[in-house]
Amino acid sequence: LDALVNTLRILVDYENCARHFGAIEGFLHEAEGYALMTLAARGPGNGAIVELGSFMGRSTCWLAHGTKSAFREKVTAVDHFKGSPEHQPGEVFECATLKEEGSTYPRFRANVEAAGLADYVEPIVASSEEAAASWHGPIRLLFIDGDHSYEATKRDFEVWSPFVVPGGIVAFHDVGNAPGVTQFYRELVDAPDGHRQLFSLVSLGVTTEEE
Ligand SMILES: C[S@@+](CC[C@H](N)C(=O)[O-])C[C@H]1O[C@@H](n2cnc3c(N)ncnc32)[C@H](O)[C@@H]1O
Repeated sequence: LDALVNTLRILVDYENCARHFGAIEGFLHEAEGYALMTLAARGPGNGAIVELGSFMGRSTCWLAHGTKSAFREKVTAVDHFKGSPEHQPGEVFECATLKEEGSTYPRFRANVEAAGLADYVEPIVASSEEAAASWHGPIRLLFIDGDHSYEATKRDFEVWSPFVVPGGIVAFHDVGNAPGVTQFYRELVDAPDGHRQLFSLVSLGVTTEEE
């Protein structure tokens, strides 16, 4: 009975987190959040968890909850908080907060604090390129969810992946949704001696470098 209850506890945990973090405005499916949370808690290697593209903190909270529950490394959340092209006024995912406040950073901070995770999140308010230029240290989990154009996805990967430890994880969001991300992701996992897909879930693509 204990084993059965333990198995079902996963569902209880999932539902709890989905209810809380799902209420944060954002673009991550609950199952993707749970996968990120599990990778943050139990993923391979040692080093920082770096998220590119935090918006209002939905994925940040899933990641931070996972790694905090395992007493592991903090989450570095990199975003200029000015929104992607599709969030700008008149665009397909127009964001009211950006229109009114010019930044999603205050909401991000409030959401992370309300979740009790501020002690596990270190924001870097800068573009991905700027942040990479002054980054030092190993990364065990890199989550790429910034600008979804092909050029930006490629650049995010190229400037950040050299910090990922051998056997570390690189995860992409919006594979299959955003043409630019999808094209880059396919090139990456189809290349011989490149990154190998570990699994995909909804639009989350999870890879590691071939040894
Ligand atoms: C799709 S949203 C991220 C969604 C978030 N992960 C979630 O769970 O809801 C993309 C974010 O990337 C940020 N972004 C876009 N281009 C960027 C760049 N060059 N550097 C840093 N952040 C960028 C935007 O400000 C936006 O907040």
